[in-house]
Amino acid sequence: MSDGRPLIIAHRGASGYLPEHTLPAYALAIFQGADYIEPDLVISRDGVLIARHDNRLDLTTDVASHSAFVRRKTTKVVDGQAITGWFSEDFSLAEIRQLRAIERIPEVRPGNQRFDGQFGIPTLAEILQLVQALQPLTGRRIGLYPEIKHPSYFAGIGLAMEQPLIQALHAAGYHRATDPVFIQCFEIASLKQLRQLTELRLMQLLWSSGQPYDIQQAGQALSYAQMATAAGLRAIAEYADAVGPEKNHFILPLDSQQRLVAANATSLVADAHAAGLLVHPFTFRAENAFLPDSLQSAAELSAPGDWRAELKVFLGLGIDGLFTDHPDKALAVLQAGQTG
Ligand code: G3P
Ligand code: CA
Repeated sequence: MSDGRPLIIAHRGASGYLPEHTLPAYALAIFQGADYIEPDLVISRDGVLIARHDNRLDLTTDVASHSAFVRRKTTKVVDGQAITGWFSEDFSLAEIRQLRAIERIPEVRPGNQRFDGQFGIPTLAEILQLVQALQPLTGRRIGLYPEIKHPSYFAGIGLAMEQPLIQALHAAGYHRATDPVFIQCFEIASLKQLRQLTELRLMQLLWSSGQPYDIQQAGQALSYAQMATAAGLRAIAEYADAVGPEKNHFILPLDSQQRLVAANATSLVADAHAAGLLVHPFTFRAENAFLPDSLQSAAELSAPGDWRAELKVFLGLGIDGLFTDHPDKALAVLQAGQTG
Protein backbone atom coordinates (compact mmCIF):
# COMPACT_ATOMS: atom_id res chain seq x y z
CA MET A 1 0.00 0.00 0.00
CA SER A 2 1.26 3.49 -0.81
CA ASP A 3 0.02 5.98 1.83
CA GLY A 4 -2.45 3.29 2.81
CA ARG A 5 -3.81 2.88 -0.71
CA PRO A 6 -3.24 0.01 -3.14
CA LEU A 7 -0.03 0.18 -5.19
CA ILE A 8 -0.23 1.17 -8.84
CA ILE A 9 2.20 -1.03 -10.76
CA ALA A 10 2.83 0.15 -14.33
CA HIS A 11 2.52 -3.05 -16.36
CA ARG A 12 5.45 -2.99 -18.82
CA GLY A 13 5.52 0.77 -18.17
CA ALA A 14 2.64 2.97 -19.25
CA SER A 15 2.19 0.45 -22.08
CA GLY A 16 -1.30 1.68 -22.87
CA TYR A 17 0.26 4.88 -24.23
CA LEU A 18 3.74 3.94 -25.49
CA PRO A 19 5.37 0.75 -26.79
CA GLU A 20 5.92 -1.58 -23.83
CA HIS A 21 9.22 -1.93 -22.02
CA THR A 22 10.80 1.25 -23.37
CA LEU A 23 12.40 3.97 -21.29
CA PRO A 24 9.74 6.48 -22.40
CA ALA A 25 7.00 4.03 -21.29
CA TYR A 26 8.61 3.71 -17.86
CA ALA A 27 9.19 7.49 -17.61
CA LEU A 28 5.59 8.24 -18.55
CA ALA A 29 4.38 5.77 -15.92
CA ILE A 30 6.49 7.49 -13.29
CA PHE A 31 5.17 10.94 -14.21
CA GLN A 32 1.61 9.57 -14.29
CA GLY A 33 2.04 8.64 -10.64
CA ALA A 34 2.75 4.91 -10.74
CA ASP A 35 4.21 3.62 -7.48
CA TYR A 36 6.17 0.84 -9.24
CA ILE A 37 7.32 0.17 -12.77
CA GLU A 38 7.40 -3.40 -14.06
CA PRO A 39 10.25 -4.55 -16.31
CA ASP A 40 9.81 -8.09 -17.60
CA LEU A 41 13.33 -9.45 -18.03
CA VAL A 42 15.02 -11.78 -20.48
CA ILE A 43 18.75 -12.10 -21.16
CA SER A 44 21.14 -11.57 -24.06
CA ARG A 45 23.76 -13.99 -25.38
CA ASP A 46 26.41 -12.14 -23.39
CA GLY A 47 24.42 -12.30 -20.17
CA VAL A 48 22.89 -8.84 -20.04
CA LEU A 49 19.39 -8.47 -18.58
CA ILE A 50 17.11 -6.60 -20.99
CA ALA A 51 13.49 -5.55 -20.68
CA ARG A 52 11.28 -7.66 -22.96
CA HIS A 53 8.16 -9.68 -22.17
CA ASP A 54 9.38 -12.47 -24.41
CA ASN A 55 12.77 -13.78 -25.41
CA ARG A 56 11.22 -13.94 -28.91
CA LEU A 57 12.30 -10.53 -30.14
CA ASP A 58 10.18 -10.11 -33.29
CA LEU A 59 6.99 -9.74 -31.26
CA THR A 60 8.02 -6.31 -29.99
CA THR A 61 11.07 -5.21 -31.98
CA ASP A 62 11.97 -4.57 -35.62
CA VAL A 63 14.52 -7.41 -35.70
CA ALA A 64 12.72 -9.05 -38.65
CA SER A 65 13.51 -6.00 -40.80
CA HIS A 66 17.28 -6.14 -40.19
CA SER A 67 18.95 -7.87 -43.15
CA ALA A 68 21.99 -8.56 -40.99
CA PHE A 69 19.87 -10.81 -38.76
CA VAL A 70 17.81 -12.67 -41.34
CA ARG A 71 19.70 -15.90 -40.75
CA ARG A 72 19.22 -15.72 -36.96
CA LYS A 73 15.53 -16.68 -37.35
CA THR A 74 15.07 -20.12 -35.87
CA THR A 75 12.69 -22.45 -34.04
CA LYS A 76 13.19 -23.29 -30.38
CA VAL A 77 11.31 -25.11 -27.64
CA VAL A 78 10.77 -22.66 -24.79
CA ASP A 79 8.89 -23.92 -21.74
CA GLY A 80 7.70 -26.89 -23.79
CA GLN A 81 6.38 -24.77 -26.68
CA ALA A 82 7.95 -24.78 -30.18
CA ILE A 83 8.39 -21.13 -31.17
CA THR A 84 9.78 -19.64 -34.38
CA GLY A 85 11.38 -16.20 -34.46
CA TRP A 86 14.46 -14.35 -33.26
CA PHE A 87 15.58 -14.88 -29.65
CA SER A 88 17.36 -12.66 -27.15
CA GLU A 89 19.80 -15.40 -26.16
CA ASP A 90 21.09 -15.45 -29.77
CA PHE A 91 21.97 -11.74 -29.78
CA SER A 92 24.75 -9.81 -28.05
CA LEU A 93 23.86 -6.59 -26.30
CA ALA A 94 25.65 -4.70 -29.07
CA GLU A 95 23.33 -6.32 -31.60
CA ILE A 96 20.23 -5.73 -29.46
CA ARG A 97 21.21 -2.08 -29.35
CA GLN A 98 20.60 -1.98 -33.13
CA LEU A 99 16.95 -2.97 -32.62
CA ARG A 100 14.02 -0.68 -32.05
CA ALA A 101 10.78 -1.33 -30.20
CA ILE A 102 7.46 -1.75 -32.01
CA GLU A 103 3.93 -1.86 -30.63
CA ARG A 104 2.92 -5.43 -29.82
CA ILE A 105 -0.81 -4.95 -30.45
CA PRO A 106 -1.27 -2.19 -33.08
CA GLU A 107 -4.81 -3.34 -33.75
CA VAL A 108 -5.76 -2.44 -30.17
CA ARG A 109 -3.31 0.43 -29.71
CA PRO A 110 -2.97 2.06 -33.13
CA GLY A 111 -1.85 5.27 -31.44
CA ASN A 112 1.28 3.55 -30.12
CA GLN A 113 2.30 2.52 -33.61
CA ARG A 114 3.47 6.05 -34.38
CA PHE A 115 6.39 5.38 -32.04
CA ASP A 116 7.49 2.21 -33.83
CA GLY A 117 11.19 2.33 -34.54
CA GLN A 118 11.90 5.29 -32.26
CA PHE A 119 12.88 3.70 -28.95
CA GLY A 120 15.66 1.25 -28.11
CA ILE A 121 15.48 -1.88 -25.97
CA PRO A 122 16.54 -0.95 -22.43
CA THR A 123 18.80 -2.95 -20.19
CA LEU A 124 17.94 -3.38 -16.53
CA ALA A 125 20.90 -1.12 -15.74
CA GLU A 126 19.39 1.66 -17.85
CA ILE A 127 16.03 1.26 -16.13
CA LEU A 128 17.69 1.55 -12.74
CA GLN A 129 19.49 4.69 -13.96
CA LEU A 130 16.18 6.12 -15.21
CA VAL A 131 14.54 5.61 -11.82
CA GLN A 132 17.49 7.19 -10.04
CA ALA A 133 17.34 10.17 -12.41
CA LEU A 134 13.59 10.77 -12.28
CA GLN A 135 12.98 9.97 -8.62
CA PRO A 136 14.19 13.39 -7.37
CA LEU A 137 11.83 15.09 -9.81
CA THR A 138 8.85 13.29 -8.32
CA GLY A 139 9.68 13.72 -4.65
CA ARG A 140 8.88 10.08 -3.95
CA ARG A 141 10.58 6.68 -4.16
CA ILE A 142 9.75 4.85 -7.37
CA GLY A 143 9.42 1.10 -6.89
CA LEU A 144 10.74 -1.64 -9.17
CA TYR A 145 8.81 -4.82 -9.89
CA PRO A 146 11.05 -6.93 -12.17
CA GLU A 147 9.78 -10.25 -13.47
CA ILE A 148 12.18 -13.06 -14.32
CA LYS A 149 10.88 -14.66 -17.50
CA HIS A 150 11.58 -18.36 -18.30
CA PRO A 151 14.12 -18.92 -15.50
CA SER A 152 14.37 -22.69 -16.02
CA TYR A 153 14.85 -22.28 -19.76
CA PHE A 154 17.58 -19.69 -19.41
CA ALA A 155 19.36 -21.61 -16.62
CA GLY A 156 19.24 -24.66 -18.88
CA ILE A 157 21.22 -22.83 -21.57
CA GLY A 158 23.77 -21.44 -19.13
CA LEU A 159 22.19 -17.99 -18.80
CA ALA A 160 20.67 -18.12 -15.33
CA MET A 161 19.16 -14.76 -14.44
CA GLU A 162 18.89 -14.79 -10.64
CA GLN A 163 22.44 -13.81 -9.73
CA PRO A 164 22.75 -10.98 -12.32
CA LEU A 165 19.40 -9.59 -11.17
CA ILE A 166 20.33 -9.61 -7.49
CA GLN A 167 23.79 -8.20 -8.21
CA ALA A 168 22.25 -5.32 -10.19
CA LEU A 169 19.61 -4.54 -7.56
CA HIS A 170 22.04 -4.75 -4.64
CA ALA A 171 24.59 -2.60 -6.52
CA ALA A 172 21.85 0.00 -7.06
CA GLY A 173 21.24 0.11 -3.31
CA TYR A 174 18.16 -2.11 -3.08
CA HIS A 175 18.81 -4.69 -0.33
CA ARG A 176 16.12 -4.81 2.27
CA ALA A 177 12.53 -5.95 2.55
CA THR A 178 11.70 -2.32 3.25
CA ASP A 179 13.10 -1.19 -0.10
CA PRO A 180 10.51 -0.57 -2.86
CA VAL A 181 11.22 -3.74 -4.80
CA PHE A 182 9.28 -6.92 -5.53
CA ILE A 183 10.74 -9.64 -7.74
CA GLN A 184 8.08 -11.74 -9.44
CA CYS A 185 8.02 -15.00 -11.30
CA PHE A 186 5.59 -17.65 -12.59
CA GLU A 187 7.99 -20.39 -11.55
CA ILE A 188 8.68 -21.52 -7.97
CA ALA A 189 12.28 -22.71 -7.85
CA SER A 190 13.61 -19.36 -9.07
CA LEU A 191 11.82 -17.55 -6.27
CA LYS A 192 13.07 -20.06 -3.70
CA GLN A 193 16.59 -19.54 -5.02
CA LEU A 194 16.13 -15.77 -4.79
CA ARG A 195 14.94 -16.21 -1.20
CA GLN A 196 18.43 -17.48 -0.38
CA LEU A 197 20.11 -14.56 -2.16
CA THR A 198 18.23 -11.50 -0.95
CA GLU A 199 15.89 -9.90 1.57
CA LEU A 200 14.09 -8.08 -1.22
CA ARG A 201 10.42 -9.00 -1.41
CA LEU A 202 9.27 -11.75 -3.74
CA MET A 203 5.95 -12.32 -5.51
CA GLN A 204 4.55 -15.59 -6.84
CA LEU A 205 2.58 -15.17 -10.03
CA LEU A 206 -0.43 -17.41 -10.64
CA TRP A 207 -1.48 -17.99 -14.24
CA SER A 208 -5.14 -18.82 -14.91
CA SER A 209 -4.45 -22.43 -15.87
CA GLY A 210 -1.81 -25.14 -15.84
CA GLN A 211 1.19 -25.21 -13.56
CA PRO A 212 4.61 -23.59 -13.13
CA TYR A 213 6.99 -24.84 -15.82
CA ASP A 214 9.65 -25.88 -13.32
CA ILE A 215 7.04 -27.97 -11.46
CA GLN A 216 5.94 -29.56 -14.72
CA GLN A 217 9.56 -30.33 -15.59
CA ALA A 218 10.06 -31.92 -12.16
CA GLY A 219 7.10 -34.21 -12.87
CA GLN A 220 5.13 -32.79 -9.96
CA ALA A 221 1.37 -32.28 -10.07
CA LEU A 222 1.02 -28.91 -8.28
CA SER A 223 -1.20 -26.61 -10.32
CA TYR A 224 -1.75 -22.86 -10.16
CA ALA A 225 -5.30 -23.63 -9.01
CA GLN A 226 -3.94 -25.62 -6.06
CA MET A 227 -1.46 -22.83 -5.32
CA ALA A 228 -4.42 -20.43 -5.12
CA THR A 229 -6.13 -22.38 -2.31
CA ALA A 230 -5.71 -21.40 1.35
CA ALA A 231 -3.22 -24.23 1.83
CA GLY A 232 -1.40 -23.34 -1.38
CA LEU A 233 -1.13 -19.71 -0.33
CA ARG A 234 0.29 -20.72 3.03
CA ALA A 235 2.95 -22.70 1.17
CA ILE A 236 3.72 -19.66 -1.02
CA ALA A 237 4.07 -17.53 2.11
CA GLU A 238 7.02 -19.70 3.16
CA TYR A 239 9.15 -18.13 0.38
CA ALA A 240 7.26 -15.10 -0.95
CA ASP A 241 5.73 -11.88 0.34
CA ALA A 242 3.00 -11.40 -2.25
CA VAL A 243 0.93 -13.28 -4.77
CA GLY A 244 0.02 -12.07 -8.24
CA PRO A 245 -3.09 -13.87 -9.48
CA GLU A 246 -4.68 -13.48 -12.89
CA LYS A 247 -7.51 -11.24 -11.77
CA ASN A 248 -10.60 -12.77 -13.30
CA HIS A 249 -9.70 -16.38 -12.74
CA PHE A 250 -8.65 -16.33 -9.13
CA ILE A 251 -10.27 -13.28 -7.56
CA LEU A 252 -13.48 -12.48 -9.40
CA PRO A 253 -14.66 -14.72 -12.23
CA LEU A 254 -17.18 -13.33 -14.70
CA ASP A 255 -20.76 -14.57 -14.28
CA SER A 256 -22.79 -16.22 -17.04
CA GLN A 257 -23.67 -12.79 -18.44
CA GLN A 258 -20.00 -11.75 -18.55
CA ARG A 259 -20.54 -9.41 -15.61
CA LEU A 260 -18.30 -8.66 -12.63
CA VAL A 261 -20.44 -9.18 -9.54
CA ALA A 262 -18.49 -8.57 -6.33
CA ALA A 263 -20.59 -11.15 -4.52
CA ASN A 264 -19.05 -13.79 -6.82
CA ALA A 265 -15.55 -13.11 -5.51
CA THR A 266 -13.49 -16.07 -4.37
CA SER A 267 -11.85 -16.20 -0.94
CA LEU A 268 -8.38 -15.70 -2.42
CA VAL A 269 -7.82 -12.19 -1.07
CA ALA A 270 -8.84 -13.18 2.46
CA ASP A 271 -6.89 -16.44 2.26
CA ALA A 272 -3.78 -14.65 1.01
CA HIS A 273 -4.01 -12.00 3.73
CA ALA A 274 -4.50 -14.72 6.34
CA ALA A 275 -1.28 -16.30 5.07
CA GLY A 276 0.49 -12.94 5.32
CA LEU A 277 0.64 -12.36 1.57
CA LEU A 278 -0.08 -9.13 -0.27
CA VAL A 279 -2.33 -9.47 -3.33
CA HIS A 280 -1.25 -7.78 -6.60
CA PRO A 281 -3.48 -9.04 -9.43
CA PHE A 282 -2.89 -8.50 -13.15
CA THR A 283 -3.82 -6.91 -15.54
CA PHE A 284 -6.10 -3.87 -15.70
CA ARG A 285 -6.44 -2.25 -19.14
CA ALA A 286 -8.85 0.37 -20.43
CA GLU A 287 -9.65 -0.89 -23.94
CA ASN A 288 -12.78 -2.83 -24.84
CA ALA A 289 -10.52 -5.63 -26.07
CA PHE A 290 -9.59 -6.42 -22.46
CA LEU A 291 -12.85 -5.72 -20.65
CA PRO A 292 -15.75 -8.09 -20.00
CA ASP A 293 -18.63 -7.76 -22.47
CA SER A 294 -20.76 -6.04 -19.85
CA LEU A 295 -18.21 -3.21 -19.49
CA GLN A 296 -17.43 -2.69 -23.14
CA SER A 297 -18.50 0.54 -24.85
CA ALA A 298 -20.32 0.30 -28.13
CA ALA A 299 -17.21 1.36 -30.03
CA GLU A 300 -14.39 -0.69 -31.54
CA LEU A 301 -12.07 -2.92 -29.51
CA SER A 302 -9.39 -0.24 -29.33
CA ALA A 303 -11.76 2.25 -27.71
CA PRO A 304 -11.97 2.62 -23.94
CA GLY A 305 -14.70 0.76 -22.12
CA ASP A 306 -15.92 1.19 -18.56
CA TRP A 307 -12.49 0.57 -17.01
CA ARG A 308 -13.52 2.57 -13.92
CA ALA A 309 -16.19 0.01 -13.11
CA GLU A 310 -13.74 -2.87 -13.29
CA LEU A 311 -11.17 -1.08 -11.13
CA LYS A 312 -13.78 -0.11 -8.55
CA VAL A 313 -15.02 -3.67 -8.15
CA PHE A 314 -11.55 -5.13 -7.62
CA LEU A 315 -10.43 -2.30 -5.34
CA GLY A 316 -13.52 -2.98 -3.27
CA LEU A 317 -12.32 -6.57 -2.77
CA GLY A 318 -9.30 -5.51 -0.73
CA ILE A 319 -6.44 -5.99 -3.20
CA ASP A 320 -3.14 -4.42 -2.15
CA GLY A 321 -2.02 -3.29 -5.57
CA LEU A 322 -2.68 -3.82 -9.25
CA PHE A 323 -0.83 -4.14 -12.55
CA THR A 324 -2.18 -1.71 -15.12
CA ASP A 325 -1.23 -0.47 -18.59
CA HIS A 326 -2.86 2.86 -17.72
CA PRO A 327 -1.39 4.11 -14.41
CA ASP A 328 -3.06 7.52 -14.72
CA LYS A 329 -6.49 5.95 -14.91
CA ALA A 330 -5.95 3.75 -11.89
CA LEU A 331 -4.66 6.71 -9.89
CA ALA A 332 -7.70 8.78 -10.87
CA VAL A 333 -10.03 6.09 -9.53
CA LEU A 334 -8.04 5.76 -6.31
CA GLN A 335 -7.86 9.52 -5.80
CA ALA A 336 -11.60 9.79 -6.34
CA GLY A 337 -12.00 7.27 -3.54
CA GLN A 338 -14.02 5.07 -5.84
CA THR A 339 -13.23 1.73 -4.36
CA GLY A 340 -16.24 -0.38 -4.22
O1 G3P B 1 3.79 -9.77 -14.08
C1 G3P B 1 2.43 -9.46 -13.97
C2 G3P B 1 1.88 -9.74 -15.31
O2 G3P B 1 2.63 -8.95 -16.19
C3 G3P B 1 2.07 -11.21 -15.63
O3 G3P B 1 1.73 -11.48 -16.95
O4 G3P B 1 2.39 -12.01 -19.27
O5 G3P B 1 1.99 -9.63 -18.58
O6 G3P B 1 4.05 -10.80 -17.81
P1 G3P B 1 2.60 -10.95 -18.22
CA1 CA C 1 5.01 -9.33 -16.18
